[in-house]
Amino acid sequence: MPPRRTRKLEQPITITLDGKSVEAEAGASLATALVGAGHLALARSSKFHRPRGPHCLRGGCDGCLMRVDGVPNVMTCGVPATQGARVERQNVVGVGDVDVMRATDWFFKKGINHHELLTGVPGIQKVMISFARRVSGLGELPDETLPPRASVETRTVDVLVVGAGPAGLAAARSLASRKLSVLVVDEQPEPGGSLLSFPRDATAPLGGGAPIAVEPLRRWLVDEALAAGAELLPRAVVWGVLEGFDWLVEIEGKGLLRVNARAHVIAAGAHDASPAFAGNEIPGVISARAAGRLLRDGVLIGEDVLVVGEGPFATAFAAAAAKEGARVSAVALADVVEVHGMSAVKEATVRTPLGREQKVDCDAVVIDAPPSPSFELAAEAGAEIRHDDAGYSPRVGEDGRVVRSGLPRPLFALGEVTGAAFAPERFAERAEQVAAALVAALSGEN
Ligand code: FES
Repeated sequence: MPPRRTRKLEQPITITLDGKSVEAEAGASLATALVGAGHLALARSSKFHRPRGPHCLRGGCDGCLMRVDGVPNVMTCGVPATQGARVERQNVVGVGDVDVMRATDWFFKKGINHHELLTGVPGIQKVMISFARRVSGLGELPDETLPPRASVETRTVDVLVVGAGPAGLAAARSLASRKLSVLVVDEQPEPGGSLLSFPRDATAPLGGGAPIAVEPLRRWLVDEALAAGAELLPRAVVWGVLEGFDWLVEIEGKGLLRVNARAHVIAAGAHDASPAFAGNEIPGVISARAAGRLLRDGVLIGEDVLVVGEGPFATAFAAAAAKEGARVSAVALADVVEVHGMSAVKEATVRTPLGREQKVDCDAVVIDAPPSPSFELAAEAGAEIRHDDAGYSPRVGEDGRVVRSGLPRPLFALGEVTGAAFAPERFAERAEQVAAALVAALSGEN
C-alpha cells in the first residue's frame, strides 16, 4: 500500500506534480506533501534514472531532488508547500512511477559500464556516446535565469551556534545565560533537530534514564534558549567559512548573511545511515528519523512496516505506527539480507534466529542504524578530523573545544557531530562545560 495521511489536512492547498493536482498541507515540506498523497518515487538516480524516494527528510540524501517552479535539483524536503507550486520529476524515462530503465538489467546482469560499452565499434560507438550523454546527469537547466542572490548583510555576535537540535539549543541557553550574544542558525523551519523526528506524543529514553515526553522537552529547550536571550534563525544554511573566519549563511527567501562571531559552536548533528544491503535504495526504505518526522506531520509511510534496528527512533515510530493501524514487524540490522521491489518496497528477505532466510511481506522498511556525524562544516573550518566506528568527526578535547592549533577563533563542537550517541539529557550537561570553556577562551583573548 502507498503511504497515507493519518489526519485531515488543516490548511489544504493545491500543488501540482507533473501537471496533476495534489492536495497538500500549507507549510509542510513539498516532499512530505507528496508522500502523504501516496507518491514515494520522487527522484531518479543520476546514472540509470532508477526511482529514488526520500530517505532522510533533512537535506542529507538525493531522494527528494525535483524540479520546482522551473528550478532543477531542489531538495523538496526543505521547501514548504505553497499554493500553486509546480513540482516535476526529473530524469524520468517513461512514466514517473515506473522504472523503464530496469529493462537493462535483463541484458547487463552486472550493470552497464558505459565508459567502455561498445566503444571502438565504428558507428555504434557514436550512438552509445550520444545515448550515455542523454541519460547521464541530473535535471535540466532552469526555465529562466535565476536572479542574483540578495546582497550580503553582516552581523557581529559573540557566538554563532550551528544547529538548533537539542545540543545546539542547550549550548545556546548556557552561553546566552552567561551574557553572551548568541545567534543559532538551523536549516529546518522549526527548532528541535532530531527531536522533531519523534511522533508528537512519543516518549523515549533520551539519555539512558526513564522515557520522557519528547515534544515537551523540545519546547522547553526552545523556550529556555529564547528566555536566556539567544536568537534563533530558522531556514538558515551555513554555506562555508570566508576569509577572516566570517561564516556565510543563506536565509531562505531573504538572502545572505555574513556572520562575524568571536567563537563558534558546531552542533550540526549526524547523517542518517544507509546500511549496505541489496535494495537499500528502493523508495520506501527510509530512516526511522524520517519516518517519525512523517508521522509527526500526519503521514504514515506504509501499512506493513518492517522496522530495522532498536534505537529510540525505531521504538517510538513502531509504537506510533501500530497505534495508527499499521502492521509492524521488527528485525535486527544484521539480519536484513535484501529488500525487494522496483519503484516501491514489495517484500524483504531476513535471516531468522536459526540462520535461515525467510521472506517477509512489507511495503516500507524503516531503519534506525548508527548515524554518521555531520563533520563537513567542522572540516572546512579547519578542525582536525578523526575516524572511528562512528565515522568521521572533529577531534575535540574534554571541554568540547576543537583540538587544532592555529585556528583564528575558538571553535567548539557538541552532540552527535562529535560522534556521541543521541542523548539530549547528556548534551545539556555537556553544554554547560562547553559554555564555561568558551567563556574562558574568550576572556583569555581579551
Ligand atoms: S535530502 Fe530530502 S529526503 Fe534526503
